[in-house]
Amino acid sequence: RDTCPAFDPAALAREFDPFQPPYQLDPAEALRWSRDQLPVFYAPRLGYWVVSRYEDIKAVFRDNILFSPRNVLEKITPATAEAVEVLKSYGYAMNRTMVNEDEPAHMERRRALMDHFIPANLEKHQEMVRRLTREKMDEFIDTGRVDLVDAMLYEVPLNVALHFLGVPEDEIAVLRKFSVAHSVNTWGRPTDEQQVAIAHDVGRFWKYAGEIIEKMKSEPEGTGWMHETIRKNATMPDVVTDSYVHSMMMAIIVAAHETTSLASANMFKTLLTHRDAWDDICADPSLVPNAVEECLRYAGSIVAWRRQTTAPTSLGGIDLPEGAKLLIVQASGNRDERHFEDGDTFDIYRDNAIDHLTFGYGSHQCMGKNIGRMEMRIFLEEMTRRLPHLRLAEQEFTYLPNTSFRGPDHLWVEWDPAQNPERKHP
Ligand code: HEM
Repeated sequence: RDTCPAFDPAALAREFDPFQPPYQLDPAEALRWSRDQLPVFYAPRLGYWVVSRYEDIKAVFRDNILFSPRNVLEKITPATAEAVEVLKSYGYAMNRTMVNEDEPAHMERRRALMDHFIPANLEKHQEMVRRLTREKMDEFIDTGRVDLVDAMLYEVPLNVALHFLGVPEDEIAVLRKFSVAHSVNTWGRPTDEQQVAIAHDVGRFWKYAGEIIEKMKSEPEGTGWMHETIRKNATMPDVVTDSYVHSMMMAIIVAAHETTSLASANMFKTLLTHRDAWDDICADPSLVPNAVEECLRYAGSIVAWRRQTTAPTSLGGIDLPEGAKLLIVQASGNRDERHFEDGDTFDIYRDNAIDHLTFGYGSHQCMGKNIGRMEMRIFLEEMTRRLPHLRLAEQEFTYLPNTSFRGPDHLWVEWDPAQNPERKHP
């Protein structure tokens, strides 16, 4: 066994490629050998050090000075010369937002823009999420078969995100195309030809973000988070800089909704393949909050994030040079037996499910985590109440190939409308 390349950690490290099937099919399983034998390793095919254990990932998130987030939005596949030219032609200048900003600028900015995210200020969005969810369900509840992603899980988080941000809700189809382009541009491995097409979409997205900012400036009393950002840009331009506003406008549209749509699709897929858990929730909705955390642990939508060392250091017993780029794989940490007993078992009663790393950890931890959670809880409450007899349809799942954003492109579900509780007990 020790001489077989399939069990040789050095050989597995050399061969590791996150764009190949093992990681694309199941990132946590693809790194089981690493968690067990070599928890931090250099992957030459990617040019990154991969970190797979819970405690090491948390240690990286915890120290954002030694492990800078400056590479979080870098193109993981370097741009071709042609793609660079295309991006330039649109004046593309994506730079620091919040998630990839170093200290002390980051904390100052985060504090200045925190208000909208505190739980008391999120209450008012609940009603909207519930109303949109019910309206979407009304549209398909009598059909007996639907793709949940197209019918609800894409659009509701997008509408909620745009409403929260104060961004006009008029171009949903365009934004979907742009979001995919941004994800592939940042976390994917496009071919040279694809790079050019994607660069055009990313360039258009950049221009569009600039136009939205101008439009929003003409509504100085606007209530969304990006309105607040634009106002802060006028009153504290050194903290909330022009470059930040433009970069953030583009990044946040993706950060706020793709993450939530994908996590929600993963949640329904997971629960419908663990029927006992689904049935338990149908019988007792008070299980919803912990079930959502367990879904985020077991099948989160952000499976890997990035950092870069600012000095030589060691991690998991491995020496790292200054400037080392790290791929920290939360999906792997979330299954680590050293932290989660029976980590591969899906258990909605798990008492430490909430320790998952899907929202990151430390001073950059997701600002929108309570919005994402709220949406997922409402989706689950409404679906289990109105369609307890829902089941997963036969299907092949497809995923956008990339290192970090994970969720099925489509999720077909079926049920017998004659058995809908609201028909039986109207
Ligand atoms: C940061 C995941 C929803 C806004 C992050 C980070 C992750 C993440 C992994 C980086 C954390 C770190 O570096 O420690 C998710 C997931 C979501 C979600 C899985 C849904 C299930 C949202 C929503 C919003 C949002 C709905 C806004 C409305 C942000 C912002 C940051 C961030 C502003 C940057 C925080 C900082 O750097 O200080 N998110 N996110 N996210 N997220 Fe989310």
